[in-house]
Amino acid sequence: MKVLVVAGARPNFMKVAPILAALAREGHRAVLVHTGQHYDASMSDAFFSDLGLPQPDHHLGVGSGSHAVQTARVMEAFEPVLREAAPDWVVVVGDVNSTLACSLVAAKLRPELGCRIAHVEAGLRSGDWRMPEEVNRVLTDRLADLLLTPSRDAHPNLAAEGIDPCRVVFVGNVMIDSLFAQLPAARALDVPRTLGLERGRYAVVTLHRPSNVDDPDALAAVFAALEKVAEDLPVVFPLHPRTRLRAEEFGLQGKLARVRTTLPLGYREMVSLVEGAGAVLTDSGGLQEETTALGIPCVTLREQTERPVTVAQGTNRLAPWPLTADGVYLAFRGALARGRHPAGTVVEGWDGQAAERIAAALAEAGSGAALAGAAAADG
Ligand code: UD1
Repeated sequence: MKVLVVAGARPNFMKVAPILAALAREGHRAVLVHTGQHYDASMSDAFFSDLGLPQPDHHLGVGSGSHAVQTARVMEAFEPVLREAAPDWVVVVGDVNSTLACSLVAAKLRPELGCRIAHVEAGLRSGDWRMPEEVNRVLTDRLADLLLTPSRDAHPNLAAEGIDPCRVVFVGNVMIDSLFAQLPAARALDVPRTLGLERGRYAVVTLHRPSNVDDPDALAAVFAALEKVAEDLPVVFPLHPRTRLRAEEFGLQGKLARVRTTLPLGYREMVSLVEGAGAVLTDSGGLQEETTALGIPCVTLREQTERPVTVAQGTNRLAPWPLTADGVYLAFRGALARGRHPAGTVVEGWDGQAAERIAAALAEAGSGAALAGAAAADG
């Protein structure tokens, strides 16, 4: 079986690493395509080395742009690569622009090449169509032949959209495979000690969603909340390039006087920092999951989450919406008071074995004969 695996942006790399390893163990041929949606050393290269990812077979080098430009560039560059590779499967992960762009190209070439599309992390829904990721999720799921879900709550979402349950397989959360695999090395790094921080006595923040960082009022409110938190205990805030850019544009960077901002961290550094934190404040999907698996209290700076299992069974809570300095601060105090869950929180299928189940699901569905036409037959 020949499997083409697509990665484009930072949150994709920790999902594809265990999949590539599982495919290799099972003796399948894999082709790794990096679209280049994220290209800075800190957003891409650092993850390849931390996760032991092989060099990509193809690098599309698309870079930044508007959603239309970025998506179109990926599509244009991916088409000849897909034709040349002619795989049995195209595996896309997550919800970034590269995920949708490559699915769309594969769907158009599917009748000609006989390739099939598998979507890893299928079925997550925020219900918020203003989020570019929601558009990417819904459309990718509609195009995929095989929908591999990270949690059981994804299944009713897909059923509600009329997707044939024959195409849907529960595999669990592959991001947690990388987390568990890298945890010993991350612990050995001991980033908190390097930064002079006391375990459990500091907060970690990440922020990059357009709804938070592209809106000057929302960004100012979060920054004010972080300054209040930083009066209580140290706050470490690795700045996403988008957030750094917007803070400069809005003249807000001076507003983080007490907060320790850093460049984006590598995967192991980030896991090490988060694992020692007293609480995490974030708008990232991945961190909601990682804190749940590690048992670290998390406040999600979003109106809703497409990962409700992290709230229902995990350590996550949503900050009151719309975000205000006081609301975020009080949510943080509540999370900190609740404390860590020492053994982590066990969610079904978040066990470090999801990639094995993904490889098995691909092999079982074969080169596509069983699923042929399934996508077309829906609805
Ligand atoms: C993207 C994903 C989002 C994911 C996030 C994680 C989409 C629609 N969004 O958002 O789901 O959670 O990645 O990081 O695909 N930039 C750099 N260097 C880089 C990459 C980006 O400087 O290596 C800057 C560029 O100025 C760019 C901005 O960051 O305009 C945003 O990058 P982009 O990939 O468009 O979206 P993200 O906000 O990173």
